[in-house]
Formats: sequence, structure tokens, C-alpha cells
Amino acid sequence: GAPVEVDISKLEPGQRMIVEWRGKPVWIVRRTKEMLEALPTLDDQLRDPESKEPQQPPYARNLYRSIKPEILVLVGICTHLGCSPLYRPEVAPEDLGPEWKGGFFCPCHGSRFDLAGRVFKGVPAPLNLVVPPHKYLADNRIIVG
Ligand code: FES
Repeated sequence: GAPVEVDISKLEPGQRMIVEWRGKPVWIVRRTKEMLEALPTLDDQLRDPESKEPQQPPYARNLYRSIKPEILVLVGICTHLGCSPLYRPEVAPEDLGPEWKGGFFCPCHGSRFDLAGRVFKGVPAPLNLVVPPHKYLADNRIIVG
């Protein structure tokens, strides 16, 4: 499949947009400062907090799993059986509990991922969500693929 060029200039802090690449949903989230600050507090709850598994290109193997800290790019497919998780950016919603700091929730079998796509312990999904190959053409233009 061809690479996909995406204009993220209208993406507001906290918002997520979805584009299609190779028939798959790709999510792009502009994370807020609060979202970024929550990430390092979660490490002991995560299965692979340091992204040791090859679920991202080398340039996204860092705390934020991204090139620019605020911009997250993920393939929106659960690493369990391939459902598409829901974007749940809110902190401590009634159904996900007081510990929830925002992330992605898979309705199929309850897998949970943080706002870097890192999988929590104790859920069926074995791996972090995939960061697809991507790069910046300009400040607000990304090419995925
Ligand atoms: Fe997501 Fe099973 S497909 S938890």
C-alpha cells in the first residue's frame, strides 16, 4: 500500500484523528502536557514499559513511543484478536476506575493501553499497540508508511 500523507494542523490538544493506511485504521493523537506527564507514572503497571518488543520503529522506542512527544501515531488494532480499541482519554471515568489516566480500551475482551499504546498487565493483549513507520514532511504534515 502507498504511504498516506496527513495534515495534522487542525488536531487540537487531546484530540484523536483516524486515517486509513494499508486498510488499517491509524490513530494520530495530539497529547496534552497532562497526558505526557501521566506516562512515566504507569511503568510498573505495564507489561513492556520500555518498548523492548519490536512494536515500533527504532526512532519511536522512547518513553513517548513517538518522534515528537506530543504526537502519538498508532495502528488502531488490538494486539489480542484484532478489534479496534476505543479512545478513552478521560481521567478516572466511572467504568474504567479511579486509576485510569486515559488511554485506549478494547471492548472485545477488556484489554487496556495507556496514551502511548503500552499494554497494561493482566489483560489478554500480549503486546503494545504498533507504531507504524512515519515521518514529518513539515511541522504539521506526517507521512505514514
Ligand atoms: Fe482486544 Fe481481545 S481483541 S482484548
